[in-house]
Amino acid sequence: MEKLMIEGGRALRGTVQISGAKNSALALIPAAILAEDTVILDNLPIISDIANYIDILAELGVSVNQRADSFAIQPQAIRNTALLGDNVGKLRASYYLLGSLLGRFGEAKLGLPGGCNFEPRPIDQHIKGFEALGAEVHMEPDYVHVKARELVGSKIYLDVVSVGATINIMLAACRAKGTTIIENAAREPEIVDVATLLNAMGAQIKGAGTEVIRISGVQYLGGCRHSIIPDRIQAGTYMIAAAATKGDVLIDNVIPKHMEALTAKLLEMGVHVHEMDESIRVVGQPVIHGIDVKALVYPGFATDLQSPMTTLLTQARGVSMLIDNVYNNRFQHIPELVKMGANIRIEGRKAMIEESQLRGAKVTAADLRAGAALFIAGLCTPVGDITEVYNLEYIDRGYDHLIDNLTALGANVWREPVENLQKKA
Ligand code: UD1
Repeated sequence: MEKLMIEGGRALRGTVQISGAKNSALALIPAAILAEDTVILDNLPIISDIANYIDILAELGVSVNQRADSFAIQPQAIRNTALLGDNVGKLRASYYLLGSLLGRFGEAKLGLPGGCNFEPRPIDQHIKGFEALGAEVHMEPDYVHVKARELVGSKIYLDVVSVGATINIMLAACRAKGTTIIENAAREPEIVDVATLLNAMGAQIKGAGTEVIRISGVQYLGGCRHSIIPDRIQAGTYMIAAAATKGDVLIDNVIPKHMEALTAKLLEMGVHVHEMDESIRVVGQPVIHGIDVKALVYPGFATDLQSPMTTLLTQARGVSMLIDNVYNNRFQHIPELVKMGANIRIEGRKAMIEESQLRGAKVTAADLRAGAALFIAGLCTPVGDITEVYNLEYIDRGYDHLIDNLTALGANVWREPVENLQKKA
């Protein structure tokens, strides 16, 4: 167990390279096992969630050859094993194996997914989709069993715009007989990335990135090579950190279009943002203004950037308001920010945030993006203040080379074993 140590008072300056997108990678890997041949995925992030996914693939007999950030996924010897061990519970995106194993074998038995459980995260829309394709679904207390004699294309209207359900249905529907239409589909860039990979494998998917996706089932999916899109949440985190520390950072390897909602909000606050073809420069300003932010489904402001944004709003003049319309209860970072001196009130689904002087403190990350809010807060404290963020393992799930990147940008950050701290205390 380790904690992240951050000394305050240093503005971030320099260039940071963004890795491939975690949320794409976690869907591309299960998509790849639908292929009969090797699928090479380039530019994958080096994070613990990916390592955990590869351990799950080993249980299925899928071997993975890694060279730097390229992963060759070899599903030729895949067998349909019930996945009931601990690995499945380590990450939420293990639920994509329901869709891909159902597509490939007509059956999947999977332990309940884990991940950041900031609130109950149901999978009813995934199940609705599988049932519409002809599968029988049995939810047991600690596993899900889906089985279909034959998958048949169908029209599925999602009651909730869900990234996971859209991708999971797409995975199974690729191998269904006939055409599947997903209506009220999620439009996140990661969905487009998954459809691009599946189409390169031989699938016939149209409309990914819009509210209606049409999938014509095929009998065979083959190998291919695919380069993953950049991680818009990591990029957004560095953009916010640059603004919060009043620094000057060039964020390289991004798709500026994916950042539009955040860029608009930073500009509204008075931060300078310059977009280039594949990079964005964020120049923090001495005075920034409070604003209202609503987290929505894409192309709205990303819920995963809501927590880091809370920290930035503590550095803005006046009172800001933040609402998360995707999750009802994603404010676990707020009590920890309050421990650091943040003046924030939660009123129902709203957080009201006032300009605050943050101070170093011992705080705990309740989930991955709460962790991002806290390390940015640590960077905003005065010179000499030290912030200790516990549950570093959450942050390791999603931030590729975080310490190296922050250090290269001039921050003083390091890891320490938690035991050392307890001995010192
Ligand atoms: C994905 C992302 C996560 C991000 C979220 C929303 C991955 C691995 N994770 O999670 O980082 O925060 O999108 O952008 O890609 N819902 C239901 N029933 C369902 C499915 C979802 O009610 O069957 C609800 C959820 O509780 C939530 C909302 O729909 O309130 C959106 O969830 P969803 O888009 O499915 O999130 P994930 O795909 O799990």
